[in-house]
Amino acid sequence: MKTSIALVALAAISTLTPSVLSPARAAEHVDKAHGEGWATIKKAVAVIHPTQGNQCHGAVEFTQDGDKIKVVAHIEGLTAGQKHAIHVHQFGDCSASDGMSAGGHYNPEGHEHGLPEKGKRHAGDLGNLTADSAGKAHYEITVDNITIAGVKNPIIGRAVIVHAKVDDGGQPVGNAGARIGCGVIGIANTGEKK
Ligand code: CU
Ligand code: ZN
Repeated sequence: MKTSIALVALAAISTLTPSVLSPARAAEHVDKAHGEGWATIKKAVAVIHPTQGNQCHGAVEFTQDGDKIKVVAHIEGLTAGQKHAIHVHQFGDCSASDGMSAGGHYNPEGHEHGLPEKGKRHAGDLGNLTADSAGKAHYEITVDNITIAGVKNPIIGRAVIVHAKVDDGGQPVGNAGARIGCGVIGIANTGEKK
């Protein structure tokens, strides 16, 4: 009988490896804890720190709402009255003093660079912040070409870079100059406070 052979085999496995989860529980664990885990992340945050010799700092929040991502940036230490490019760059690596370790603009679809008005552009092209007379900027933009941790152009673990100059939309990367702020995009804490 096939059934009894299977049962004997299962019993043998259980005896040999008593600490291993049953196949059913293991499958459930894989599905819930790992399969759906990333998809449940609806909010991310990048805390921006200045690169060497700069004052740029603040935070950028990313909130997933269906197919769209709302981006809200509060940045200080900018040049008063000036526009500053803001992009998602490929690597979540702000270790270099000039921010170059974050790599180029996040561009998994192989498009040309562009401002947000341009539909086909680098996934990381978020446009420009505008600093007020105190060098502070509040910027909001909603985009549909990235996800936080979904299948389409996930940004989690990458970096937000703020530049010294305006992104003019030119090729290859908008002529935005030095990287004055860098922050790794991490999973936001949406409820648990210390
Ligand atoms: Cu950039
Ligand atoms: Zn770009």
